[in-house]
Amino acid sequence: MQRWRFFMLFLSYLLCFSFPIFAILIASLLASINSARAFSPLVLDPVKEVGSSAFWKRASPQAPNNYTPTVVECPSTEPSIRNASHLSQNETNWLYIRRNNTIGPLRDLLVRSNITGFDVNSYINNISSNGSLLPNIGIAVSGGGYRALMNGAGAVAAFDNRTANSTSKGQLGGLLQASTYIAGLSGGSWLVGSLYANNLSTIQSILSTKPATSSLWQFENSVIKGPSTLSATQYWGGMASDVKDKSQAGYNTTITDYWGRGLSYQLVNTSDGGVAYTYSSIADDPYLTAGNAPLPIIIADERPPGQLLIPGNATIFEFNPWEMGTFDPTTYAFAPLRYIGSDFSGGFLAVNGSCVRGYDNIGFVMGTSSSLFNQAFLMLNASSGPSQPVANAISNILENIGENNQDIAAWPNPFYHYANDTNQNAQTTLLTLVDGGEDLQNIPLNPLIQPLRQVDVIFAIDSSADTDTKWPNGTSIVATYQRSQNSALENGTGFPSIPDQNTFVNLGLNSRPTFFGCNASNLTTPSPLIVYIPNSPYTYLSNVSTFQLSYNNTERNAIIQNGYDVATMGNGTRDAQWPTCVGCAILARSFNHTRTAVPSACVQCFQKFCWDGTVNSTMPAQYEPPLAVQRSGGVVLSAHVFFAVMVALGVSLLL
Ligand SMILES: *[C@@H]1O[C@H](CO)[C@@H](O)[C@H](O)[C@H]1NC(C)=O
Ligand SMILES: *[C@@H]1O[C@H](CO)[C@@H](O)[C@H](O)[C@H]1NC(C)=O
Ligand SMILES: *[C@@H]1O[C@H](CO)[C@@H](O)[C@H](O)[C@H]1NC(C)=O
Ligand SMILES: *[C@@H]1O[C@H](CO)[C@@H](O)[C@H](O)[C@H]1NC(C)=O
Ligand SMILES: *[C@@H]1O[C@H](CO)[C@@H](O)[C@H](O)[C@H]1NC(C)=O
Ligand SMILES: *[C@@H]1O[C@H](CO)[C@@H](O)[C@H](O)[C@H]1NC(C)=O
Ligand SMILES: *[C@@H]1O[C@H](CO)[C@@H](O)[C@H](O)[C@H]1NC(C)=O
Ligand SMILES: *[C@@H]1O[C@H](CO)[C@@H](O)[C@H](O)[C@H]1NC(C)=O
Ligand SMILES: *[C@@H]1O[C@H](CO)[C@@H](O)[C@H](O)[C@H]1NC(C)=O
Ligand SMILES: *[C@@H]1O[C@H](CO)[C@@H](O)[C@H](O)[C@H]1NC(C)=O
Ligand SMILES: *[C@@H]1O[C@H](CO)[C@@H](O)[C@H](O)[C@H]1NC(C)=O
Ligand SMILES: *[C@@H]1O[C@H](CO)[C@@H](O)[C@H](O)[C@H]1NC(C)=O
Repeated sequence: MQRWRFFMLFLSYLLCFSFPIFAILIASLLASINSARAFSPLVLDPVKEVGSSAFWKRASPQAPNNYTPTVVECPSTEPSIRNASHLSQNETNWLYIRRNNTIGPLRDLLVRSNITGFDVNSYINNISSNGSLLPNIGIAVSGGGYRALMNGAGAVAAFDNRTANSTSKGQLGGLLQASTYIAGLSGGSWLVGSLYANNLSTIQSILSTKPATSSLWQFENSVIKGPSTLSATQYWGGMASDVKDKSQAGYNTTITDYWGRGLSYQLVNTSDGGVAYTYSSIADDPYLTAGNAPLPIIIADERPPGQLLIPGNATIFEFNPWEMGTFDPTTYAFAPLRYIGSDFSGGFLAVNGSCVRGYDNIGFVMGTSSSLFNQAFLMLNASSGPSQPVANAISNILENIGENNQDIAAWPNPFYHYANDTNQNAQTTLLTLVDGGEDLQNIPLNPLIQPLRQVDVIFAIDSSADTDTKWPNGTSIVATYQRSQNSALENGTGFPSIPDQNTFVNLGLNSRPTFFGCNASNLTTPSPLIVYIPNSPYTYLSNVSTFQLSYNNTERNAIIQNGYDVATMGNGTRDAQWPTCVGCAILARSFNHTRTAVPSACVQCFQKFCWDGTVNSTMPAQYEPPLAVQRSGGVVLSAHVFFAVMVALGVSLLL
């Protein structure tokens, strides 16, 4: 499906090149739409000049030898594999600090959410000493390429109390500060990875980066083109030599290595594309160790040896700053991320085995989660990007990998000879991971529904392109629901009932936020309440193609602004009760645990936003939602008008 879309895009590129009339048509169309619209400055006003390089210190360049994994002296306690029956000691210790730090922001957010007749302060005071009663919040940012990064960024900006005006009436600022976990997948992993790679700077400050001084989030220069500060030869030559060094050190490399290196120039703010920055270094960041930010988790799917399609029961691996591994009953184990590449066998360092560091380059982790986009590099030829020698080097790699392996990331298998009976990769030294969305579960819910993590509510930002018109229709959470019904795989996780995709469209569950699993007593296995927040048009038609790889800053900002409006329901203008209902969703499980009568304001919210079990599976018409907010001073086009204009323009140009 996704590949099919990709080839359609490729086809349209071809069309544009072969028949310039198409290019003119599309360009003039886009120009007409953009100029017709006025955008609210909410997210986009530059707040501060980002000049000082100290501001941008982040994570840290902990890899011993840049991109090349390197043998190091083993620590006094040798790294080893653990089973997944408990959280890591690191996470447990961290949670103790973090959960405590969420109480203040949670209290502020709930007070602002204005739940009539509910005394937030006395409620929080009563439960704050008992972690299992205190609402535990997770945020999940779906895949969907740059569209997902940008729509997700709008939501994060809305949830971040540091965004200007995000704590005024109708707003949700502080939800990020009150959250325990934030998970990202594919395009969503670019957002999560980029924020944590850059000292958790605000979306606002990232957007005010000056293109002349930094390539951070400068998406007009695609990953294929490279940053404006480097020539194609410098850019591609640098990447080729990074990847060659890794390969010559004896590690398998794939296109994902290039893809991850390329992404890093956009997502990690250093002039060398963060070549030595590791995902595990986030564990040492002051804001994380002090428990001042949610725990960032990135996920990818396992591809077993000899298989090409990724089934719905594929093992899901997570990367958190301390570990990589899975709670799935297949491999059911975690390895210390910092030491991936060490000679693990049967759960321990092999006899005379060495310790290795530097495999978990942060761009490589993001590239692994988004390996579907390796396909972008298949379009390369000598004339369009790299110089001939570099292009040759890449095509050699492609030949070695073979057509069937183009979307894989090669990881040394820390679970070699571990869990032989259930681990499908137990007999291979190579662990092949692919894009986290290839099992159709495009929202990274798996780490957040683990019973050990005790999450109460998940804000699920869905930027998938499920319909023909590239809006989400619930496909992703339908897949997660189906997986939760597989008794061989669910391993204690629960998930609420989710209706089919036609019902999503027919009942409008995908055109506004919807809550699933409101009634905890209707669940056979406990599950968090899911606040499903689908991408939809408020001020901009943000249903751009997953494989559009380049955006100018006007369009980038417009999509992020739209994402802000998606999360806040147009700043509360589309539904004034929305901030109250977000507060109720956060409290829902806690009300159950404390046997507190649900305040009537929340009863109203649940009537309005909870899916009530109704199903309407008839085939819906083409899904073309209109813009939800008409900004004053701007001529706003609905999707229908959009297509009408497109046709009219086409006709007038052809005549
Ligand atoms: C930015 O991109 C949009 C959409 O492709 C286009 O309409 C607009 O003219 C571009 N703006 C600038 C300043 O290049
Ligand atoms: C914040 O609100 C103030 C007062 O309503 C307004 O003047 C200002 O432009 C807003 N700032 C942003 C960035 O929206
Ligand atoms: C990271 O951000 C925090 C908060 O903005 C700031 O106080 C700190 O100095 C920054 N750290 C670095 C290393 O830039
Ligand atoms: C955001 O929340 C944090 C944690 O409660 C608080 O320390 C900080 O002052 C808040 N920032 C703003 C701008 O409200
Ligand atoms: C709180 O909600 C009540 C009732 O819905 C409303 O009358 C009041 O204006 C709201 N207050 C604020 C500060 O939003
Ligand atoms: C916390 O609340 C749970 C559920 O009510 C209860 O089982 C547990 O004993 C409480 N723990 C403490 C330390 O009060
Ligand atoms: C959002 O709400 C604030 C505070 O009520 C208001 O100043 C601002 O204009 C609103 N922004 C939009 C885009 O509606
Ligand atoms: C590279 O992958 C091949 C299988 O494709 C495997 O035989 C070989 O051992 C791997 N090399 C390393 C260093 O892991
Ligand atoms: C996934 O399903 C396939 C087909 O039913 C089966 O062969 C395979 O063993 C399953 N894998 C896991 C990990 O359960
Ligand atoms: C999860 O899977 C592991 C490994 O198969 C098993 O030991 C454990 O009991 C399972 N947990 C639950 C709750 O089913
Ligand atoms: C796992 O399989 C390997 C290879 O067959 C074997 O050497 C090893 O002893 C097995 N491990 C366990 C714990 O059975
Ligand atoms: C309640 O549970 C039943 C049985 O699992 C399910 O069919 C129904 O859709 C659920 N209702 C809601 C509102 O989730």
